[in-house]
Amino acid sequence: MRISILGGSGHEAEVGGWLHRTWWAIDGWSLSETIDYCARARGPAAPTVWVATVGGRPMGTVALDLDDLFQRPELNPWLASLYVTPDARGGGIGAALVRHVEQHAAAAGFDRIWLFTPDKSAFYNRLGWRHEGPENWHGEAVTLMSRQIGASSPLP
Ligand SMILES: CC(C)(COP(=O)(O)OP(=O)(O)OC[C@H]1O[C@@H](n2cnc3c(N)ncnc32)[C@H](O)[C@@H]1OP(=O)(O)O)[C@@H](O)C(=O)NCCC(=O)NCCS
Repeated sequence: MRISILGGSGHEAEVGGWLHRTWWAIDGWSLSETIDYCARARGPAAPTVWVATVGGRPMGTVALDLDDLFQRPELNPWLASLYVTPDARGGGIGAALVRHVEQHAAAAGFDRIWLFTPDKSAFYNRLGWRHEGPENWHGEAVTLMSRQIGASSPLP
């Protein structure tokens, strides 16, 4: 598996399609806006969107983003848009993408990163993320989580 920045990879339209169908349309983005944003999100810190490929095929994506939960503008940056294609789930790609974002954010100088999830808190908890309480996203109950990634909490 290879993890690389999405913009310039040639997989922008396919990955943008996954994200638009799954979340971004609910947030009011058109498909072309979603693809354009993802293709431009190349860091150096955030926003950055990555794609995981296996044998050249895109199998997953993740982002380090800013201001992901509009009612909590004081919390940044965010691990966002984690998605693995259904046929590739259970093979470690999701965990590898989470670790990749953590390492990128730590290298960029952040001490803590945040995420929210409606139903995957057990997945993140296994990866060392802690619960920070309930929140809501477009009226849906979600769990706010964080992970310390600074020098005082070395990555495994
Ligand atoms: C959640 C998701 C990214 C996980 O990706 P994945 O590649 O299947 O995950 P991995 O194979 O890396 O799993 C890592 C570990 O978490 C466990 N795990 C996977 N999904 C889990 C879940 N829903 N709940 C609890 N544990 C889970 C795995 O069993 C594995 O455990 P192990 O290390 O003991 O073997 C994937 O299921 C997905 O894309 N779902 C749809 C989109 C989504 O919900 N994204 C998250 C938004 S917050």
